Amino acid sequence: MDKLVIEGGVRLKGEVVVSGSKNAVLPILAATLLTDDACIIKSVPNLRDTNTMVKILRSLGKNVEFDKNIVSISSTKNLGFVADYKLVSSMRASFCVLGPLVGKLKKAKVSLPGGCVIGIRPVDLHLKGLRALGADISIESGYVVAKASKLKGANIYLGGVYGSSVLATGNVMMAAALAQDKTVIESSACEPEVVDLADFLIKMGAKIKGHGTPVIEIEGVKHLHGATHTIIPDRIEAATLMVAALITDGDITIKNAFPKYLGAVIDKLEEAGASLVRIDNSVSVRCVKKLKAVNITTLPYPGFPTDMQAQIMSLMSITPGISIITEKIYPDRFMHVAELNRMGAYIQREGPHAIVNGVKELSGAPVMASDLRASACLVLAGLGARGKTTISRIYHLERGYENLEGKLESLGAKIWREKE
Ligand code: EPZ
Repeated sequence: MDKLVIEGGVRLKGEVVVSGSKNAVLPILAATLLTDDACIIKSVPNLRDTNTMVKILRSLGKNVEFDKNIVSISSTKNLGFVADYKLVSSMRASFCVLGPLVGKLKKAKVSLPGGCVIGIRPVDLHLKGLRALGADISIESGYVVAKASKLKGANIYLGGVYGSSVLATGNVMMAAALAQDKTVIESSACEPEVVDLADFLIKMGAKIKGHGTPVIEIEGVKHLHGATHTIIPDRIEAATLMVAALITDGDITIKNAFPKYLGAVIDKLEEAGASLVRIDNSVSVRCVKKLKAVNITTLPYPGFPTDMQAQIMSLMSITPGISIITEKIYPDRFMHVAELNRMGAYIQREGPHAIVNGVKELSGAPVMASDLRASACLVLAGLGARGKTTISRIYHLERGYENLEGKLESLGAKIWREKE
């Protein structure tokens, strides 16, 4: 296993290009199960998670080539319907093969994803939606077993105790695309990644409208054909790079950043005193004055994204003042707090709140990544800290950031890998 080593204190400068979105491409790759035709997906980031999804598609009988950020998919023999435990348990998002398998084959056996360090990760909304379409769902030895003689459109309310669900909206939309008649999903997720999935399904011949709003309508069709699609950029990577500029008091231009997806993040960073200049789909980021602490509450899109909570906490940990960070999507998503405190931060946990007292500076230290966004938070903290930081278990980082250390190095960061 590798670890990342960072010599902090370098002000980042230059230009960097954002890769394709992990959270858009995973359900879109799953959506190719809805057709026997060939599909070509471009701008696919080379990540642990995208390679896991490729393995799952191959295990289901798809022929998949993944080269230079392009995935070419075609069918070989009969499509399988069992997504096995070892693959699904390694990546929760694999659960989004359930909807397309039920849509295409009217049967599926998909391992329950299980929880992870950020929370228990329930799937009740996914199952509620598929049952509403007429699927018979049972839980057998850790698997969701679904079968349906036919799927019929329905009105489905998909709001949960924490608001809308991104992948439950995706699963239901994909199954409804091949159901009879019309489905209306109320309290659907509005994330750009859900919109990108709907855009891909429409290219395949699906009849969908309202995507990007809390009410999505799907008119079922009999058949979906192959399509070619380019994945939207990764807004969380773009926002992570914005924080990298600010935490090092640097000045960087992020190309392919698509600021239209980052309203809540840009608003908060500007409130803290950052300068973010948008030029088309690029954003130039720098501090024009001393930053001040701001309060953050994570919410479903277009609110502040939970996937940026850990990263902004690293910035607030060295910003003068008190920042109260409230996590409304995954109340336990605070594994990074202890590691930041190891680096000299002064953060107290109070239930779903983290109270961040800004300190003068962080000091480099050996720390351990616990999940994808916590590892990004520790990289950012290391960039801004005095001295050397070593981050172990960086396979968490490799799940969702394509060559982040290479991108940071190109901006001047002193960052390299060593064997554990
Ligand atoms: C997607 O996960 C993202 N993953 C997550 O990103 C992201 O944090 C999350 O959406 C919220 O934006 C992918 O797109 C692959 P949810 P998803 O269903 O769809 C509760 C990252 O770091 N819920 O929108 O699994 C759930 O517990 C990852 O890139 C139910 O109660 O998340 C949570 O509190 C982490 N019942 C809230 O809804 C359900 O059936 C939102 O979860 C499903 C979810």
